[in-house]
Amino acid sequence: MQVVNLTPTAVLLLTAFVGRCQAQQSGNTSSPWFCHDLDCPSYITLDKGADYEKRQYPSANWVSVNVENYTYSAAVSKGFAPLFDYISGANKEGVKINMTAPVLVKVLPGDGPFCQNNFTVSFYVPTKQGETPVPMQQSLYLNSLPPATYYVSSFDGFADDTSVPAQAAALTAKLTANGEAFDSSAFWTAGYDAPYKLTGRHNEIWIRKADAAGGSGSTPAKSVAG
Ligand SMILES: *[C@@H]1O[C@H](CO)[C@@H](O)[C@H](O)[C@H]1NC(C)=O
Ligand SMILES: *[C@@H]1O[C@H](CO)[C@@H](O)[C@H](O)[C@H]1NC(C)=O
Ligand SMILES: *[C@@H]1O[C@H](CO)[C@@H](O)[C@H](O)[C@H]1NC(C)=O
Ligand SMILES: *[C@@H]1O[C@H](CO)[C@@H](O)[C@H](O)[C@H]1NC(C)=O
Repeated sequence: MQVVNLTPTAVLLLTAFVGRCQAQQSGNTSSPWFCHDLDCPSYITLDKGADYEKRQYPSANWVSVNVENYTYSAAVSKGFAPLFDYISGANKEGVKINMTAPVLVKVLPGDGPFCQNNFTVSFYVPTKQGETPVPMQQSLYLNSLPPATYYVSSFDGFADDTSVPAQAAALTAKLTANGEAFDSSAFWTAGYDAPYKLTGRHNEIWIRKADAAGGSGSTPAKSVAG
């Protein structure tokens, strides 16, 4: 095995370089590339590894619809339509809202293989509290998501009934292997591209970091031992 000897100067230079990169990453809330020219919620990158990053999101306003179905794809297309109508003017104020990113889908798995899953499909609305247009469709509701920290993994291609469960399982396995405390009751997908875009796509899986107090969170220790 080869041992690389670093001179003290080299070590100093290296750590200074790494330190500067980290300082630029954390606290940088400028829009990431995958938002392109769409408004998307700002966040702070707390940590960035090869497999996933840890992001802190402040509270933000979303408009949401709950859909029950067996499959992700069916639920997303069903939820997308009324949300698109809403931003196209189907709101009490009759205003058009520019498309934003991402389309966020909370996936709450059912209790068995033949159970329906609950999906919450949401559009980000970059408005101040109290200024969000009110939906006409009764199934839609304004949804202020509280501040939270998420573990986020990214994948390209399409988020569908094959990739989403596989990517969510992969992130769960990595978090468990790394001893991260996370809430295993649900996960989110975040999709940043229109369906007709074929290349350069960006999708994410979000899994919420467990609250320090525990709460509804489940630690990996529990799922391994239990
Ligand atoms: C964030 O990063 C971008 C691009 O790397 C840079 O132009 C911008 O100045 C940074 N903003 C802050 C607040 O550091
Ligand atoms: C699931 O979604 C599909 C496509 O929209 C729909 O045809 C089907 O009826 C839905 N299933 C249930 C149980 O709601
Ligand atoms: C919506 O998008 C258009 C075109 O990109 C832009 O000119 C306009 O300012 C945007 N409106 C809002 C409210 O952001
Ligand atoms: C899904 O939502 C329905 C209706 O709100 C509820 O009865 C059901 O228990 C939910 N299922 C899960 C897995 O949370």
